[in-house]
Amino acid sequence: MTLEIVVGTQWGDEGKGRIVDLMAAGAAVVARFNGGDNAGHTVTVGSQTFKLHLLPSGLIHPHTFGVLGNGMVINPTTLLSEMEMLRAAGIVITPERMMISYAAHLITPGHKALDAAQERARGAGQIGTTGRGIGPAYTDKAARRGLRMLDMLDPAAFRQKVRLHLAEVNQQLQRLFGAETLDVEAIAAEFEGFAFQLRPYIGDPGIKIAAALAAGQPVLAEGAQGTLLDIDLGTYPFVTSSSPTAPGALSGLGLGIPAQAVRVVGVTKAFQSRVGAGPFPTEVHAAAAERLRGSGSNPWDEFGTTTGRPRRVGWLDGVLLRYAVRVNGLTELMVTKLDVLSGLATIPICTAYRSGGLEYSDLPLGPSDLSPFEPVYVELPGWPEDLTGVRRWADLPAAACRYLDKIGEISGVKVSLVSVGPERDQVVTKE
Ligand code: IMP
Repeated sequence: MTLEIVVGTQWGDEGKGRIVDLMAAGAAVVARFNGGDNAGHTVTVGSQTFKLHLLPSGLIHPHTFGVLGNGMVINPTTLLSEMEMLRAAGIVITPERMMISYAAHLITPGHKALDAAQERARGAGQIGTTGRGIGPAYTDKAARRGLRMLDMLDPAAFRQKVRLHLAEVNQQLQRLFGAETLDVEAIAAEFEGFAFQLRPYIGDPGIKIAAALAAGQPVLAEGAQGTLLDIDLGTYPFVTSSSPTAPGALSGLGLGIPAQAVRVVGVTKAFQSRVGAGPFPTEVHAAAAERLRGSGSNPWDEFGTTTGRPRRVGWLDGVLLRYAVRVNGLTELMVTKLDVLSGLATIPICTAYRSGGLEYSDLPLGPSDLSPFEPVYVELPGWPEDLTGVRRWADLPAAACRYLDKIGEISGVKVSLVSVGPERDQVVTKE
């Protein structure tokens, strides 16, 4: 296998960071291809927990080369502070270890201010964005007026481009939203400074990736967010503005369809979670939700890594999972947080939707409007055993294996690995 793509099959927060961390042990290049610092990947190594928003999680491994692909939108303040956080932990990122695509777009304080103003203006129809300026940055990209990493190569000219961009943003803030304007000169000067700092990292990582693939070296593409947040394929309009699906990995890294083997791994939580607004047919509330979410006392409880918001939670949705398998071309599934289900008497899993007296095992019009559907559940027996110490498939309780088999049966792809806790070694691989 040479190109390995890891994608979330749900609304993000599936635990991709820890799966990527595992797979990165064997990868030469680790690459992010979509989104920006709206993502939050938690990786625990021994006593250290890293929360990464922009850098590929696989960079924690010292032998890897990191790529920030052209499909991304990059806030340079976040990027530099994340590099500094790693440096303080002894992981030094230099241009020998990382490249940023010249074609990746930038996020400025102007985009963040517009994100906040647009959300306020939506009123009751809020998307619940992470407030990181993602939508406005991709809007500028699509409108062909965005700021790109390439612009940073000439810092003085870049400063002027930032000035013009902020002047336009200020007009919108003032005229459309009656919001406070930004200090153009201060931000433009700050961004010129960022250009000097980031210039050495800018290049065309497509060359590096193609060379690695041609040499048979594994390249790991790390998806952020999840399939159901995809701008084209997700629960629109309650989506992000990028393509977190497997095809997005190719366009977001400047790759064609590789001649080499491709392994597309879908990560799914053993249940379902969502942060932000939008449809969620299998959502549960009150005590059942608190049981799945955790109290927030552990970093891996169901609270947003980026925003700290409590996540909405529910039972695993097989209809949406099957959809994710199809649109990503998944070849296997990895199931995270199986340990959280220990102690439940029974575990419901949604196998179909019902609407108007009919039953649907597939979505007739994609996942945009899920409101007419009611989930159809099967109840599987739970297991009392604590799974956190299990390391061999044969040691999983029979009921846990039945649950995993059911996931395989509904989705049509095999479950190759489960995680039973946040530590690197708390995984069970199917022999
Ligand atoms: P945006 O990406 O900040 O514009 O937010 C759009 C939607 O995507 C909101 O519902 C966010 O909560 C959600 N979202 C964005 N990034 C993530 C993520 O990394 N995990 C989970 N949800 C996310």
